[in-house]
Amino acid sequence: MTYLSEDGSHEAVNARMSPQTPERLKQVMESLVHHLHDFIKDVRLTEAEWETAIAFLTQTGHMCSDTRQEFILLSDVLGVSMLVDAVNNRKPAGSTPSTVFGPFHVDGVPEREMGASISLDGKGEPCLFEGRVLDLDGNPIEGACVDVWSDNADGFYDVQQPDIQPQHNNRGIFRTGPDGRYWFTGIKPVSYPIPDNGPVGKMLGHLGRHPYRPAHMHFLITAPGYQRLITHTFVAGDPYLESDAVFAVKAPLITRFQERDASDGSPKWKAAYDFVLPPENSAEA
Ligand SMILES: [Fe+2]
Repeated sequence: MTYLSEDGSHEAVNARMSPQTPERLKQVMESLVHHLHDFIKDVRLTEAEWETAIAFLTQTGHMCSDTRQEFILLSDVLGVSMLVDAVNNRKPAGSTPSTVFGPFHVDGVPEREMGASISLDGKGEPCLFEGRVLDLDGNPIEGACVDVWSDNADGFYDVQQPDIQPQHNNRGIFRTGPDGRYWFTGIKPVSYPIPDNGPVGKMLGHLGRHPYRPAHMHFLITAPGYQRLITHTFVAGDPYLESDAVFAVKAPLITRFQERDASDGSPKWKAAYDFVLPPENSAEA
C-alpha cells in the first residue's frame, strides 16, 4: 500500500523512488523526507504556517541575484553552513580549525609583494598581519598561497560598494618563502551586519536575533601537498564573539590585536597568527 497516511507518510513518498536512483541520492532524499515529515508531525504545522513558509522561501529566491545569495544567508543563520563545514573538515589535532567561507571572496585578486598594503581606500586603523604557515611538525611551508580579505572601516566589502570602494580594496594574495612567513598591512577589521534587508533579516528580527558578525580577517591558504584551509582570525574582545549571527567563531581563531606605538609611521595594530596545515591525505582527528 503506497497511499499516503499520517502514520506512514515518509514511507509512501520514499517508496516511489526508482530502483535505478543513484545510491547517494536515495540516501539523502530518504533521510530528508523522513526528517521533514517528522518535523511537520512534531509541530503539527498549520495550513497558515505552511503558506507562510512557502511565501518565505519564495521571497528568499526572489532576493537572490548575482551579488546577493539569500539562501546562503539562510543556511548561515540556521547554523547549517557551519555544520556542513564541521562534518567535512575533521582535521588532525594541531591543525588550524576551519570556518565558513562566506559570500565575499572573489577570484582574480592580484598577488602582492610580501609586506604590501591591501588597504586601498585609506580608511580604518592600519594593522600589521603576520605569522607563519606551518606543517603539523612546526616546519615552515614554502610556497603557500595566502589569500586574504576583510571589510573596510565602514563594515562593507569592496564588492558590496563597487561605486564607492576601489576594486580589490582590503584583498590580496601573498606567497610564502622558505621561512613560511607572511606579513602584510591591512586594517583592524570591524564587526558588520550580514545583509538584513531581506526575508532572512526579517526572520532574525522575529526571533529577537541581531545580524552582526564579530570583526574578522578572512584567510584562504593553499599549498601543494597540504589540505586547503578556509578560516578567519577574529578580533579578541569583539562584543559579538559570543553571538556571531552565523556561528563561525571557534576559540583557537580568536586573535589578540596588539596596539603599538605608531609614532614612527608603523601600523597602529599588530595581529600575529600561525596557521597549521595537515598533509593532503592525513586521517581525521
Ligand atoms: Fe566576512
